[in-house]
Amino acid sequence: MGSLKDKVAFVTGAGSGIGKAIALLYAKEGAKVVVSDINDAHGQSVVDEILASGGDAIYVKANTAVPEEVEALVAKAVEHYGRLDIACNNAGIGGALAPAAEQSIEDWKTIIDINLNGVFYGCKYATAQMLKNGGGAIVNVGSIHSVTAVPGSVGYAAAKHGVLGLTRNFGVEYAAQNIRVNAIGPGYIDTPLLNSLDRDTYNALVTKHPVGRLGNAEEVANLVLFLSLDSTSFINGGYYTIDGGYTAV
Ligand SMILES: NC(=O)c1ccc[n+]([C@@H]2O[C@H](COP(=O)([O-])OP(=O)(O)OC[C@H]3O[C@@H](n4cnc5c(N)ncnc54)[C@H](O)[C@@H]3O)[C@@H](O)[C@H]2O)c1
Repeated sequence: MGSLKDKVAFVTGAGSGIGKAIALLYAKEGAKVVVSDINDAHGQSVVDEILASGGDAIYVKANTAVPEEVEALVAKAVEHYGRLDIACNNAGIGGALAPAAEQSIEDWKTIIDINLNGVFYGCKYATAQMLKNGGGAIVNVGSIHSVTAVPGSVGYAAAKHGVLGLTRNFGVEYAAQNIRVNAIGPGYIDTPLLNSLDRDTYNALVTKHPVGRLGNAEEVANLVLFLSLDSTSFINGGYYTIDGGYTAV
């Protein structure tokens, strides 16, 4: 408790799954949390949960695919809490499934807009503010598919590989100004994102994780918290898997 006391953080896609777990953990650790999502009811319910347990949070709607909305998200965080110390660019979608050559241009653009461009906008506007308030920590939610293919979802793989590239660039370019930027690579995590999978597909995914199960959002939140702490000050430009052994095979 209290490892993020006095810190101000935003989390995108914080109304569900991994983002929700991150927002709740940040708040439990004493951060003032800007909970952001496109689903108002889900985002507000996370804020209500934080307030009910004695934490401090506000909800700000922002579609991360729209740069002006991400810029406004950072502005509202600063307007309300005066600074920005931590940014977690988590919002993402699974996207449409199709063989790579049959993927529609529209579906390709949609997933690149949310899963890649949105992370760039989050880094861009968070960095601009962190430069004004003496530094900060940014954690981008990549995937094991930041380093591996995902048959049937070329856009997802391309976007998540891109997240790793921009993470390294931001980390390198702003390290001297006390801004750390890292990415995480979760294996398959039991969240609503996987709701559309049938039982056979779900079980086939489980077999790819040597640990014999999928991960849970709270496990991922623990890694994100670790990378957000001042005490991890020498970790920058890195990529950390949390995948039950998936990519070690
Ligand atoms: N679940 C997994 O297996 C898994 C594995 C690796 C990485 N990830 C990544 O973790 C992140 C979170 O996934 P999750 O499993 O918690 O999914 P989820 O569907 O449970 O939650 C995603 C949240 O993001 C919000 N969102 C969607 N599009 C948005 C947009 N354009 N702007 C703002 N918010 C938006 C949704 O409303 C939702 O609340 C994603 O980036 C995903 O790619 C998930």
